[in-house]
Amino acid sequence: MSDSPAILAVCGSLREESYTRTTLEYVLEAAAAAGAETELLDLREYDLPVYDPDVDDQGDGEEAMRLVREADAVVLGTPVYHGSYSGALKNFHDYCGWDEYEDTTVGLVAIAGGGSYGSTLDHLRITVRGVHGWVLPHQVGIRSASDKFEADPDAVDGRAFVDDSLEERVEKLGRMLVEYAYIDPEVTTSRTAAADD
Ligand SMILES: Cc1cc2nc3c(=O)[nH]c(=O)nc-3n(C[C@H](O)[C@H](O)[C@H](O)COP(=O)(O)O)c2cc1C
Repeated sequence: MSDSPAILAVCGSLREESYTRTTLEYVLEAAAAAGAETELLDLREYDLPVYDPDVDDQGDGEEAMRLVREADAVVLGTPVYHGSYSGALKNFHDYCGWDEYEDTTVGLVAIAGGGSYGSTLDHLRITVRGVHGWVLPHQVGIRSASDKFEADPDAVDGRAFVDDSLEERVEKLGRMLVEYAYIDPEVTTSRTAAADD
């Protein structure tokens, strides 16, 4: 076990000016400051066809799965799409299973253009639980995202948070991913257990 946990962020927005990606960069920066090795898995850069269980070695699926398997902690970030998480992130998630998430600490981030992100975080939490990831109680939701950032060339990703308390909430997620990266939750004692066991 390394002294520097490997923290992977997965961005579920394909948008060039994504607030989800910016928020994940802040999470990773805080994790790096707390001693982690960090990496962003930007789904724009991966060839991930709609997951087909009948096809072996689809696109960059194996490489994406390897990154999750090798991470000590993963932070999943998504835009709120129709009250849930994005299709891009769901497709990525369909590539992964117990082998990827067992013994993995998971943080959640949801970014809403409007006023509500609760259902999105709940849906993510349930689906990660289904593959036995250990989801941190602390999570980040941002509503009315376009009002929460201002351009700042010196800031992470060229954007500063308008609200210090929101920035602190985001950075706390990065620190907690490091703090709990090596937790041994023993989510289940049997790999044959059903997902809801
Ligand atoms: C297909 C689609 C569905 C959306 N659904 C919602 C929604 O249900 N609630 C909401 O608050 N915003 C919704 N939005 C707005 C996005 O949450 C918002 O643009 C957010 O900033 C996108 O994240 P990003 O900046 O990381 O791309 C939707 C946007 C798209 C494109």
